This record gives sequence, structure tokens and C-alpha cells, in this order.
Amino acid sequence: MKRVTIKDVAQEAGVSITTVSHVINQTRNIDPKTKERVLEVLNQLDYHPNMAARSLRSGKTKTIGLILPDISNLFFAEVARKIEDYGYQHGYSVILGNSDNDPVKQESYIHTLIAKQVDGVIFIAAGGEEHDLRPFFDNKIPVVVADRDVPLELADVVLLDNEQAGFEATRHLIDLGHRTIACITGPNNVTPSMQRFEGYKRALQDYGIPFQPDLVEAGNFQFMSGEVGMQKLLKNPHKPSAVFVLNDMMAIGAITAAHKAGLSVPADLSIVGFDNIEIASAVNPALTTMAQPIDDIAQKATNMLIERLQSIRTEENMRVILPAQLIVRDSTCIRRGS
Ligand code: RIB
Repeated sequence: MKRVTIKDVAQEAGVSITTVSHVINQTRNIDPKTKERVLEVLNQLDYHPNMAARSLRSGKTKTIGLILPDISNLFFAEVARKIEDYGYQHGYSVILGNSDNDPVKQESYIHTLIAKQVDGVIFIAAGGEEHDLRPFFDNKIPVVVADRDVPLELADVVLLDNEQAGFEATRHLIDLGHRTIACITGPNNVTPSMQRFEGYKRALQDYGIPFQPDLVEAGNFQFMSGEVGMQKLLKNPHKPSAVFVLNDMMAIGAITAAHKAGLSVPADLSIVGFDNIEIASAVNPALTTMAQPIDDIAQKATNMLIERLQSIRTEENMRVILPAQLIVRDSTCIRRGS
């Protein structure tokens, strides 16, 4: 079946191609009656713009690429959802590349997004070795790096103050009288986990609490690693009375392990998470956590990219650091005997 063109619409509506284009793109006020006639014909002929032809003409595809490590992690799912919302509000479609925390797959998506001629990219690194984003710059595709810092001076950056957030999460447990405080970390090759862990150690040091390496278990930001990490900590002769877990997915796993071991959270064991994903308030007990400003992160990253794409902002790269906020719920309490 022959594709309906803008020329067909113009002929059928009895107007110029320019008029039809202005109606479609809302780029000029058109006489209401004429506009109504054009809209009627667009609908009647079931017209769909030829995006390939349009992007050839304009050099723009009105698409944004989003590369992130794990869409099954509710933090990234919520960030992706917000970025898609903000992109759509500005007339951009979003193409998602889920790297599965795999630098090789991530590299593949970098080249796929270039091939698809996205106008710009929001990039959350899989972690690990330095990420070569230069293919984007070589193709004049602006990038905003979010959440995980990359040692590059070539991109706008939106990050969280992870070290201070790790300090405040640990101080919350210290203020409740806990002195044997364990930590379940995320992958040790991504900046958010490393920085939160530094904040945990700084809080212990500031309050004169010795750092004990056997109270630290490494996770991978996924649910199961939180459960396994907690099981190991519970076998430790040095039983912790509290645990700082470096993201909510693992913290929910840690609560599960505590319950399976017959422990009460928080009476026997206080647990603090990180992210404040939507489900954190719905688990039992509701999770005390460090809330990331997910909406802010998504909005700032999207707006910074679009300002760059629309040449509203041409100056040197911006680096935005956002604070987290402690949300106290039911998974922490005063240490028994305090
Ligand atoms: O839950 C996933 C974690 O990885 C979040 O804490 C986020 O900061 C990302 O780095």
C-alpha cells in the first residue's frame, strides 16, 4: 500500500504543503477552519510522518539514547521512567540500552545508538574500567553522565553526594546506640558504592568506633546478594546489631535473611537501605533508607541534555551534585539495652 505523503494531505485538504507542515509541527498559528480541515484529512488518510525523511532534512531524529546498567533494578526503572516522561514532554523519544552491568554490552549499545543517530545520550555507567564515550563526541552527540561518575571532562554530570549520604545513614544508626554496625556494599568498581562506603567508615571514625573488616560483605546491588551477605554476617561471631546496606534491593534481601534466621527487624537487627525506591515503604518492616532525589536526577539530566541539543547552553560542562535525604521508617530502632 502506497505511503501517504504530506503532499497527498495538502492536495486533499486544498492547502499548501507548508500549511500542512505548520499544522503537524504546530510551528505557526493557522486559521482555525483551515487547521480543522487539515486535521480531518490527516486523520482520514491515516497520515504518519516519515521520520527517516524528516531526520535527513533536519539532521535531527528527536530521539535520546539512555544507557543504564540494570533495568530490573527498581532504582533504574524509576529513573528511566522519569527520563522518558521528561523527554516526551520536550518532543523526544527515548531509546533504552540496558547494559546488564556488562562493559562489552555497553560498548555495543554505544555504537547502536550512534547508528540510530540519536540526538543526545544520558549515560549511567556499568561500572569498572574507564568508559570510552569518545565515539559519541566524535559523532558530535552530546552526553550527560548520571549517577556514576566517569573520569572524563567531556560530559555534563548529574551525581549524588554519596559520601555524605553514607555518613548520615551510619550516623543514624550510631545515634540509635548501635556500635557493631555492619555494611553490605554494592559492586566495588562503581563510584556510588565506593563513596557510600567511605561515608560509612568516616562516621565510624568520627564517633570513635573501630572499623572491622569482618563486618563488611560485598554485594552487587541485586536482591539475592543482600540476602546472601546478611546470611554471612549472621554467622559472624561478632554479631552486628545494625547493618547499612548500600541499596534498597539488597536491603530487602537482608531483611529476608534476618526473618529466615528468626530475627526481628528492627528489635534484633536495625537495617538502613539506600535509594528509596517506591517499594521501600511497602515492605515489612517499612525500610529506613537514604532517599535519592530520583525525579530531580532524571529532570536535571534530561533538561541539561536538551538545553545542549537546542544550543540553549553552549558553555563548558556542568557538574551537578544532589543531596540524599534520610527517611526514617520501621526498620531501625534504638539498640536493645541502650
Ligand atoms: O540500586 C542501584 C544503585 O546503583 C543505586 O544506588 C544507584 O545509585 C546506582 O548507582
